[in-house]
This record gives sequence, C-alpha cells and structure tokens, in this order.
Amino acid sequence: MKKILVTGGAGYIGSHTVVELVQAGYEPVIIDNFSNTEERSLQGIAAILGREVTCHRIDCTDTAALRRFFEQETGIAGVIHFAAYKAVGESVEEPLKYYHNNVGSLVALLQVMQEFNVNKLVFSSSCTVYGIPAELPVTEQTPVQKANSPYGNTKKICEEILSDLATSGSDMYTTALRYFNPIGAHPSAEIGELPLGVPNNLVPFITQTAAGIREQLTIFGNDYDTPDGTCIRDYVHVVDLAKAHVVAIERLLSGKAENIEFFNVGTGTGNTVLEAVQAFERATGEKLNYKIGPRRSGDVPKIYADVTKATEELGFKTTSTLEEAMKSAWDWQMHLQKTEE
Ligand code: WQD
Repeated sequence: MKKILVTGGAGYIGSHTVVELVQAGYEPVIIDNFSNTEERSLQGIAAILGREVTCHRIDCTDTAALRRFFEQETGIAGVIHFAAYKAVGESVEEPLKYYHNNVGSLVALLQVMQEFNVNKLVFSSSCTVYGIPAELPVTEQTPVQKANSPYGNTKKICEEILSDLATSGSDMYTTALRYFNPIGAHPSAEIGELPLGVPNNLVPFITQTAAGIREQLTIFGNDYDTPDGTCIRDYVHVVDLAKAHVVAIERLLSGKAENIEFFNVGTGTGNTVLEAVQAFERATGEKLNYKIGPRRSGDVPKIYADVTKATEELGFKTTSTLEEAMKSAWDWQMHLQKTEE
C-alpha cells in the first residue's frame, strides 16, 4: 500500500481525508501538533475504520523533528499538507503567529521532502486568495487579490512559494486545492468539526444554537446585493472535499499532473446565509433562533466556484447536497453532546 503523509491529519478536513485514503487503499500516516484538535479525532477515525492510523505528535515548523520522521517512516509516496492555523479573526490580531506557522511549516516540510526525495505534495489552499472576486463564479484564472486577512495572505504566499519552486527546475510536483466553505461531518458522526471556543464559522454556530449551547445566531448583514440580502458562499460537504484530496494525490502519483496545478474545490453553487439556515431547518426539523445583525468586517459579499477545471482535469465533482451536509453537521453535534454527557 502506498504510504501518504497527512500533516494536520487529526484536524477537521485532515481526519476526513485520512478515512477516505484508507478506504481508497492507501496507508496514511498522520503528523499533528494537536494545537487545534483533540486526540478524540484519532479515536473517531479508528471507530470508522476498525483500525488505528499511525500518528506522530510533531510540529511542522520543527525541521529536525520532520527529518527524524522521514528517517523513521520510510517509503512515503506523497504528502497532503493541512497543518495550518485558519481563524481569520485571530490572524488579524496575531499575524506573526500565522506567518510563522502557516508559511514556516510549508517551507520546512518542502525542504525536508527534498532531502528525502519525496516530491509529491497536495496543498490545502483556500478561496480566500480570491479576496473580493472580480467575476463570479471564480475560475482558477480569476486574479488572486490582496487577501483581506493575514490568514488569507499566508495561503497566497504559500501558493507563490509552490509556483517559485515549480519554475526553479525542482522535481517537486504540487497541487493546490482552493477550498470554498467546508461544512458537515462524516455520516458515521464519529468525526467532525471541533471548534474550540465560540465558533467563528456559520455552520458550527448554527448547530450549537440549535443544540441550546448558543442563545441565538446573528446573521451578519442582510443589505448585500444578493437575492435575500445575505452573503453568498459555496458550502462543500467535508467528505466530498476529502475525496478531492484522494483524487489529487492519485493524479500526482500517476504522473499525469503538471509540476504546479491549482483547482477550485466547491460545489459550483452559491447559497445565501438565509438559504443555508433554511436548509438546516428542513434537514433537521429544528427551528433556528436567529436575528439579523450588522455586517461582519472583512466578509466577502459573494463568492462561489466555477468547478469546470476540477471536473474536466481532476475528474472530480461533489455529490452531497446542502441539506445532507447540514444533517451530517447536526448528527455530529448530537454525537458530541452524547459523548460529553
Ligand atoms: C460564512 C457566512 C458570514 C457566522 C472562512 C474563511 C475561509 C474558510 C472558510 C478556511 C458569511 C456568515 C458566519 C455567524 C453569520 N476557512 N456568518 N453569522 O468567512 O466565508 O470563510 O471559513 O479555509 O478561509 O475565511 O466562513 O462560516 O465564517 O461565514 O452570518 O455567526 O456566514 O457573514 O457570510 P467564511 P464563515
């Protein structure tokens, strides 16, 4: 079985990708520093797979630790790099923490990969690189703009590092997947999003409000130029997103990929915040307590993906509906409550 290193593999998208890799016949090995996840995600992975997945507690900015890892875990065929901080608001308050971790970990990882002749990497990027897009839906040729947060800028810088590496004549082959809005959880409800503290993102706030943990959801603004005035996003089921990573690493291992490629990973459909709330209510039968509040600074009014390139070149399309994603998020929230009682 081909061994795949998954950095940040105990995290939200990482853990779902580890499950899909095993089910696709790969042998994932996780490294994670557990700064933004809990050991319980490893137990959840094991519960789904009926077996444990090897995990090393390593910080990806620690070059020496990465070297020791590659010395110990020989035969790594490729790497999927998730390990990064991702809270937009926190990145505004603590930019150096984000540049050190998000950019530093990619550079350290690439350096050690080169030393050990591991030359295939899938990189976790984000639609944030498009900023406020000049056109909709966004294609991979839509101009990358000045990011509206240090978090977004770290993703833009990391993509530029991969491009510079490609033009340097190195034999490194990398694929950057630009995620839209990942939501939902594995249908088993054994793994899902573990927001530590008050959730920034919409869907965990919805499920915690419906579960009575939060008093009320505030919808940030309904005076945007959209059908119902609330922002538009492309909400992609995390299991679909995980499957996109399996397809991307397979493409790299098959030798079909160019030495640097970018793909949008979304559904290709935009939904407003109110539509997302209504999809949650239809999917779960729960009535959500929400109010309209002021706009949140930095929010992009409208963004959703043109998925033609991923469909035609990656051979990937999402299959889950918004309601299925919302139902899976709710089932995960109920699982969390049960296991915390
Ligand atoms: C979605 C919509 C909010 C919370 C962020 C990152 C992006 C990516 C996904 C990593 C917006 C509205 C939200 C709430 C609300 N992360 N909202 N009330 O900001 O689109 O993207 O997460 O790659 O990089 O920027 O996601 O879930 O925070 O917001 O009305 O309590 O929900 O205004 O329109 P966002 P989000």
